[in-house]
Amino acid sequence: MNKELDLAYQVLNKVYFKKAYASIELNKHSTNDINFNLVTKIVYGVIDQDIQLNYYLSQFYKKSPKKDVLLLLKMGAYVHFNVDSIPDFAMVNELVELSKRTYMRPYKSFINAVLKKVVITPFSLPDINNKTQFLSIKFSKPEWYINLLLNNFDYGFVVSLLSCELTTDTHIRVNTRLVDVKEFIQKLDELGIQYKPSIFEDALYVDYSSLVRQKQLNNLYTAQGIPSMIVARNVKGNKVLDLCSAPGGKAIYTATLNPSCEVIACDIYEHRLQLINEYKNRLNIDNVTTLLNDATIFNPQFENMFDCVILDVPCSGLGVVDKKPDLLLNNQLKFEELPKIQAKILDIASKYVKIGGSIVYSTCTILPQENENIINGFLNSHHNYKITCVDTFKVPSKDECGLKTFYPHISHTEGFFIGKLERYE
Ligand SMILES: C[S@@+](CC[C@H](N)C(=O)[O-])C[C@H]1O[C@@H](n2cnc3c(N)ncnc32)[C@H](O)[C@@H]1O
Repeated sequence: MNKELDLAYQVLNKVYFKKAYASIELNKHSTNDINFNLVTKIVYGVIDQDIQLNYYLSQFYKKSPKKDVLLLLKMGAYVHFNVDSIPDFAMVNELVELSKRTYMRPYKSFINAVLKKVVITPFSLPDINNKTQFLSIKFSKPEWYINLLLNNFDYGFVVSLLSCELTTDTHIRVNTRLVDVKEFIQKLDELGIQYKPSIFEDALYVDYSSLVRQKQLNNLYTAQGIPSMIVARNVKGNKVLDLCSAPGGKAIYTATLNPSCEVIACDIYEHRLQLINEYKNRLNIDNVTTLLNDATIFNPQFENMFDCVILDVPCSGLGVVDKKPDLLLNNQLKFEELPKIQAKILDIASKYVKIGGSIVYSTCTILPQENENIINGFLNSHHNYKITCVDTFKVPSKDECGLKTFYPHISHTEGFFIGKLERYE
């Protein structure tokens, strides 16, 4: 029995049919007696190439098979095209055997027949004249997502954006409250964990699937992307409010960088506040307090109180689809309402800042309607604020009058936006 294929199918089944998160499901199974990197590759590969695999497989049947059978076939096709260490005959055998052990047993002959066609049929792309369908299949992204990009950027830009492959290593921040960076690196060396330097002295790129299995290092690092660290590094002052804070990445890094500041970390959901509390306890941070608060409702206790308000607003998350391909798996994301909420939160936050203080507004999306349009709309009606400089620490970004968008193919980071506003009267 091929344990890797078996486990990959179990994880994928939960992701596809029980709305589980791939990363969380994978972490539950990280044991040493299995090639975990291979399982991870297959799980993320199938999710990432879902649309392309669907398109390819559809030539082998008239009526789409049951969804669990289809998932098994996608896994087979993915392995055939991408995993050299599992020969075709083994892939077909193992997956047919796997089907026999489950309620897919009645479909074993169908599965066998389709997988045998897979191993002899090359993949070909659809006609290039239908730009949306062509890009959707080539890059395995839903058509609604392709159209959204084509509506906002020109064709060449969209192709470059979609062609960009970010490093598969994970960017982590060392918890310098508990360990010195050199000491942490020494521990990685001792354990044979691969790493590369980051632009920040307190961060590294690591092979995360190896690191996460070393439970004794758990409190000494945290996964955090470069743009998210840039947000915290642009926060100034000792009284800081983070209005949309969970799970606490930016608030806790802000508090780590400046031990004498006091950060109030709010979120609308109690269960998400718990994530911040667990995070700060794990990293031994004592200058963050959590508070249940709805950012869309004015809170008079906060009025004119803060040197800086961090506004990492709820957003479509479309800048991180490469790192979280499961985001696009489900139906079209509903984000028509988001700009209204973002604008409202920004308006309310502006009342909490002291004169001379600032707002650091960020999203993990590259769509102008959630980014520069929100800031520009805000400035039209708030004449006591102006855009002020965001330090990007030399990470290349597109600058529009001081507003910074990080496009993956330009910045080599996840897609992100940061705008900083200063209250001057
Ligand atoms: C992008 S996430 C924040 C990530 C966080 N800043 C970090 O660095 O870890 C947005 C957060 O906003 C919260 N949220 C959504 N609507 C909100 C509201 N009306 N008031 C406060 N928080 C809200 C969500 O629960 C979510 O935790």
